[in-house]
Amino acid sequence: MPSPARKLRLAVLVSGGGTNLQALLDRSAAGTLHADVVVVVSDRKDAFGLVRAERAGVPHHVVDYKACLERVRDLDPGAISLPVDLHELDSRQKILKDGDPIRRLRRLAGLVLAETELLGILDMYKPDTICLAGFMRLLSPYFLSRYNKEDDLRVVNIHPALLPAFPGEHGYEETFAYGVKWGGVTVHFADEGEDTGPILAQGVYPVWGDDDLDALRARGLQLEYEIYAQCINWLACGQVEMQRRADGRVRTVIRDPAYPDILRNWLQKSFS
Ligand code: GRF
Repeated sequence: MPSPARKLRLAVLVSGGGTNLQALLDRSAAGTLHADVVVVVSDRKDAFGLVRAERAGVPHHVVDYKACLERVRDLDPGAISLPVDLHELDSRQKILKDGDPIRRLRRLAGLVLAETELLGILDMYKPDTICLAGFMRLLSPYFLSRYNKEDDLRVVNIHPALLPAFPGEHGYEETFAYGVKWGGVTVHFADEGEDTGPILAQGVYPVWGDDDLDALRARGLQLEYEIYAQCINWLACGQVEMQRRADGRVRTVIRDPAYPDILRNWLQKSFS
């Protein structure tokens, strides 16, 4: 793998236990990740991910999404002071599907308030890449447009299923409940839909007949840690090429001669 000119600066967003965050911190400390975690942000003050950041000496912050959403709960959306035109933003967003426009606009306004705080925090740390690692909040186009430009996408997510199967919050539960024989994990760029952005990498693991949900999740998580770190290294080394296709969709191509070996290695590990 070519050495990057400099390490990537990562902002990691978490809501919960933060084992993916921990895997990135460990690899960074061990020198196998071409990146430093420069800040951790959570939408919940009780997220264990914040403890992991503290232990690693990484600055961490909380953005109280719940409070932001509550602040606008009974307001007329037109009267909420925001840094964006709410109707224009609503016409571009694909994440909030509530058919009642007042409720949808209020929710969007709450999100924008939280994202304004989030962007303010991120601005202090100047991250190259935003890593979503179990961050259970939707991102609006207001946030994304600050970090995603045309073919230069900067927000990545790890999803616990083989997209486009099982998008949303319950990747492992749905993989297990469906009875598929192979589970998978996906690292993708975030776009304006839910788990719909261009895919960077995917790995699969076998689902055995006697597996319960915990066994399946444990196997998948090991794969998540490997794949997320590898994707960040590809990004750091400039090995991710973006190709815009005629239909407008962006496809990524990994320009790493070791790519087939890396895939084989993930597959082999998923059997152990
Ligand atoms: C992971 O399964 C990740 O794929 C999903 O949320 C979970 C977060 O786990 N987006 P952790 O907080 O990293 O332990």
